[in-house]
Amino acid sequence: MDYIEIEPNQKPNGKVRISGAKNAALPLLASTILSKNSIAIKNLPDVVDINTLLKLLQILGASYTKEKHCIKIDGSKINKTTATYDIVKTMRASILVLGPLLSRFNHCEVSLPGGCAIGTRPVDLHLSALEKLGAKIEIKDGYILATCKDGLKGANIVFDKITVTGSENIIMACALAHGSSTLINVAKEPEVVQLCKVLSDAGVDIKGIGTDTLVIKGSNQKLLDFKDFTIIPDRIEAGTYLCVGAITNSALTVTHVKPEHMISIIEKFEEMGYGIELTDDTITILPTKEIKPVHIVTTEYPGFPTDMQAQFMAVATQANGTSVIDERLFENRFMHIAELKRMGAKISINGTTATIENSSDRLTGTKVMATDLRASSSLVIASLIADSTTTIDRIYHLDRGYEHLENKFKNIGIDIKRKKYDTK
Ligand code: EPZ
Repeated sequence: MDYIEIEPNQKPNGKVRISGAKNAALPLLASTILSKNSIAIKNLPDVVDINTLLKLLQILGASYTKEKHCIKIDGSKINKTTATYDIVKTMRASILVLGPLLSRFNHCEVSLPGGCAIGTRPVDLHLSALEKLGAKIEIKDGYILATCKDGLKGANIVFDKITVTGSENIIMACALAHGSSTLINVAKEPEVVQLCKVLSDAGVDIKGIGTDTLVIKGSNQKLLDFKDFTIIPDRIEAGTYLCVGAITNSALTVTHVKPEHMISIIEKFEEMGYGIELTDDTITILPTKEIKPVHIVTTEYPGFPTDMQAQFMAVATQANGTSVIDERLFENRFMHIAELKRMGAKISINGTTATIENSSDRLTGTKVMATDLRASSSLVIASLIADSTTTIDRIYHLDRGYEHLENKFKNIGIDIKRKKYDTK
């Protein structure tokens, strides 16, 4: 089991090149199940979750060649329809193969994804929408057995809650369905928008892209002729590195980003007193005379993203005053608080709201444990201003969503040592 050791008092400087978005790449890779041709995809992030999905697609029959951040993948030869528990349990976003497999093959067997640290994360909205499209859904031995004898049929679907992967699953299912579907209350995250654009470029008639209502004319199960594409930048990775600049009150630039995807994050940095400089594809955070407290309520895009909540909480420990963070999307996304408190942070929880007092004396370096992807990054951020060395266990969480973490930190002058416990 690896762990990382981070020395205190490290201030970053320079630029961080941001990778392609994991949460865009996952649905886009799943969408290759709908393709009749080989597709070249650029800016693919080299993270564990992507490699897990590629393994699943290969088991289903897809073939691919990968050269660093570029991949050529052919989903047309897929001939299996079972996503087994041993893969799905390692990455719940594997559920994204459900919609495309069902729409192409009229049946599939996908393991129910387990819950995870941040919540039970049900998939009821995915399943009820597929039933509206004519699917028969049965849950047996922990698997979703989905069938639709003559193919999915277009329908009007209202999502009772906004769900990102639920929207993506159903958009892909509708793309090959017979007839037209209207989807209402669809997620508008940039990652959902890129999936719609790639499907539209592949010939699917989609109206309302970027809004919460989509009208999708299915291809009547004809496979799609995909065009090559480049994955959009990872707005959460970019926000995470900007938090590194914020907590150390240093100037730091993230490059190869789309600032227009990060308005709510940028505004929260400005609320805390930081200067922000933008170009078309870079964001620079500048030091502030006084780190002001912040009030955050996480909500769906374009509101403040839940995936940035833990990172801002680490920064808020340094604010001159009391900050309040209300986590509205997941019922258990405060696992990082216990770890931050072990470092001396003064944080209290009342239901979905965390109150962060100014930690007058500095955080102390100690042994802490990563519990989920974004919680682990908040511990890395906090360790940079601790008064002594911090050790972070279970860093496999970090590797799921942050590409080449040590290298990127090294390039901005921050030394993160990855070590192994002696197993003898
Ligand atoms: C996506 O997860 C992201 N993952 C998450 O990022 C992100 O935190 C989340 O969206 C919210 O933005 C990927 O895109 C791969 P949801 P997803 O369905 O789709 C409830 C990261 O750190 N819900 O939008 O699983 C659910 O419990 C990850 O990169 C149902 O009740 O999230 C939650 O409360 C973590 N029934 C809310 O909706 C359903 O069928 C939003 O969940 C589906 C969801």
